[in-house]
Amino acid sequence: MRLKTEGSLKKNVYRGDALVEPPPPELAAILDKHRGHPDALITVLEEIQHHYGYLPQQQLEYAARELGFPLSRIYGVVTFYNLFQFTPPGRYQVRVCKGTACHVGHSGEIQDHLMDKLGIAEDETTPDKLFTMQTVACVGACSLAPVMVVNERTYARMTPDKAWEALQHLREETKEEA
Ligand code: FES
Repeated sequence: MRLKTEGSLKKNVYRGDALVEPPPPELAAILDKHRGHPDALITVLEEIQHHYGYLPQQQLEYAARELGFPLSRIYGVVTFYNLFQFTPPGRYQVRVCKGTACHVGHSGEIQDHLMDKLGIAEDETTPDKLFTMQTVACVGACSLAPVMVVNERTYARMTPDKAWEALQHLREETKEEA
């Protein structure tokens, strides 16, 4: 049997390992800003999620390598905070506020109604990739409670029916665009 040379072993080890490449420029820009600041891990993760819409596994591996964090620590942080997502969100991120003012205004019923209509649970995405259901704590619009936020838009004084109507409207708009 022929022994592999050092060169061929290297090739085999590295083939298909995307991390031998430098991080993509947009990720490198985020990592470079925070290099040498070990307390900035949450900020780094927020910026990665803001850029990609979620936290792709490969980008987390780059972050661990480039910033010198054990990958297990990064996953520990990501799984602890429910603002972080491992999967790409739907086109519309539907966030029902569960802060005190909205809770008192029955935002729980609004969310239950939407989840029932959409057939998904919290943090899930509809099979057509249109809606992802999430909750948030106070979004700072308590005078408009109960509030639903879809992507960047805030919907004031929601009821279960009004919230569902708003989502149906977005679905219609998306169909017209297609
Ligand atoms: S509690 Fe919902 S916006 Fe403040």
